[in-house]
Amino acid sequence: MSKVFITCALPYANGPTHLGHLRSTYIPADIYARYRRLRGDDVLFVCATDEHGTPIAVKAESEGLKPIEVATRYNEMIKRDLEECDISFDSFTRTTDDLHYEIAQNFFLKLYEKGYIYEKDIKQLYCNSCQRFLPDRYVEGICPHCGGEGARGDHCESCGRHLEPLQLEDPVCMVCGSEPVVRDSRHYFFRLSQFQDKLMEWIGESDMPSNVKNYALQWLREGLRDWILTRDMDWGVPVPLEGNDGKIIYVWGEAFLGYISSAAAWSRKTGKPWREYWDAGAVHFIGKDIIYHHAIFWPALLMAYGCRIPENIIAGEYLSLEGRKMSTSKNWVVWTSDFLERFHKDLLRYYLTVNAPLTRDTDFSWDDFQRRVNDELADVLGNFLHRTFSFTGRFFDGRVPEPSELTAEDEEFLNSIRRAPDTVGELLENFQFRDAMMSVIKLAKKGNKYFNDQEPWRAIKESPERASTCLHLCNLLAANLGKLLMPFMPSSAGRVLSIMNMEDEPWGFHELEAGRVIERARPLFSKIPDEVIEKEKSKLIKEEDSVSETVTIDDFAALDIRVGVIRSAERIEGSDKLLKLMIDVGEREMQVVAGLAEKYSPEDLLERKVTVLANLKPAKLFGVKSEGMVLATGESLNILDPGDAGIGERIM
Ligand code: 2FM
Ligand code: ZN
Repeated sequence: MSKVFITCALPYANGPTHLGHLRSTYIPADIYARYRRLRGDDVLFVCATDEHGTPIAVKAESEGLKPIEVATRYNEMIKRDLEECDISFDSFTRTTDDLHYEIAQNFFLKLYEKGYIYEKDIKQLYCNSCQRFLPDRYVEGICPHCGGEGARGDHCESCGRHLEPLQLEDPVCMVCGSEPVVRDSRHYFFRLSQFQDKLMEWIGESDMPSNVKNYALQWLREGLRDWILTRDMDWGVPVPLEGNDGKIIYVWGEAFLGYISSAAAWSRKTGKPWREYWDAGAVHFIGKDIIYHHAIFWPALLMAYGCRIPENIIAGEYLSLEGRKMSTSKNWVVWTSDFLERFHKDLLRYYLTVNAPLTRDTDFSWDDFQRRVNDELADVLGNFLHRTFSFTGRFFDGRVPEPSELTAEDEEFLNSIRRAPDTVGELLENFQFRDAMMSVIKLAKKGNKYFNDQEPWRAIKESPERASTCLHLCNLLAANLGKLLMPFMPSSAGRVLSIMNMEDEPWGFHELEAGRVIERARPLFSKIPDEVIEKEKSKLIKEEDSVSETVTIDDFAALDIRVGVIRSAERIEGSDKLLKLMIDVGEREMQVVAGLAEKYSPEDLLERKVTVLANLKPAKLFGVKSEGMVLATGESLNILDPGDAGIGERIM
């Protein structure tokens, strides 16, 4: 029995899960973990929600909530989604747990003490109007490597490279849209460049999947630079060194430790040492967008710390939806919870596994989903099991019959059942999940052919011992299918085993004794009717149309509409419509150019309370900068009166 440490990328607690997450990471990891357990290995399978970082801080800010409130909301949703998909974690924690802070800070300190982390004054982007530094997602611009637009301060989605905010061309503040300035700030750096050769050697010699290896080697050839490990913001794990108020460890400098802190929490509960599992070898399941982090940063951090580096990294490629890139902001997505309201979880586990090899991008299409469920699960697998169980019920009193002498065809059929656990097992060991699942389906197909060829409905009258042999072997296949399905579709596999009154047993070929009672059962899988699929497709189309016609609550929450008071007002030369206003919105004053001059004189507006859109992207009107918008009716230009509301109060 060997130990193994299996992890899934920690999902950011800033949204629920969708089918893309499940396909690239959680389902393959769970199949692997379940398989290793069945093989008798001692598995520690961990995950947590990743609750720091700018996406959560930015989202919280836009909703007027604290980051921890947003994180808690999504931690609960994500946990439920994954449980409902039968993802069998031994531990699922949060990176906001105290234990995580302790472990992440100790890790940082150890690297600092060993001289792998050093301090340096550097230039950082700073937004004058928001009065803060702009790390990571607080800033967006053009990627210097590939020219991709909308690259974030830490990462470019188009080319997958890690970025620093200062590398961005044409940067803008994500909160207020203004152009940031450059300021000095003291930060901590990790000596990543020192690990170039060691990483090259490790990756070169490893037999990691080619997608991981090729990306990593390409980045290593480009050369590694030291990596900034801290940020000027308050949401995160504080830097554990004196004199660093307002600085935290970069989310990617502590999230990896979530693997360890989740395992350590498990150790506290069970009394078993997680370290033995880590030392036996860790297998990380991730999406392809974070290969850089797992193949470069994380092993280098571990080398610096002085402990075992991962054994393997399995990176699932992307899932598109009906031929288009999934997009949560455009609602072009299928959420896990919506899917599970209408379909059984095993249909999802099945379809996302057989759809394509994990190392290839692939597409989720409702028609293809229906076709595979109907043709493969219902017509092949479900049909074989159902006819076997019904025939046994009807003609053998619900008991597995005795076989008689085997013919060459029986032997051939029996041998393919005997070989299956090794064939499927070997594929799973090599992370070839699709081929493994398909070979189970092929075996069921063989079962149907055997059943048809043997014609037990005829044999039962003409030579009953042939019918008994046929049904004995078909029940034997059914029992073994139940076992083989365990890693892939644990709930359906459990039903097969319970119909056959069988216990969970380790991986391998299973004999079946005659006389075992087979319960009466309804078909395991039914076909999905066309109307059901049409309804799903029309929902997607509606979602798409709604992008322009309606807004989501998140769209609305992104608008910072608040109460302000006009402190000064003056006409703008050359325009008889525009006024330049200075508006006090609580924590700052903003300059707004408003088209109100036809109705109001500057004097009318002095000290008047108004409602302001305070996070409009700045623009220049008549050469004068405008940072927001005063809300008024379209034609009659009536200013919206906020009544008794206080200055700075948000409208939501
Ligand atoms: O990319 C992401 O979704 C990250 N939250 C993954 C973190 S994995 C690990 F390193 F913690
Ligand atoms: Zn700003």
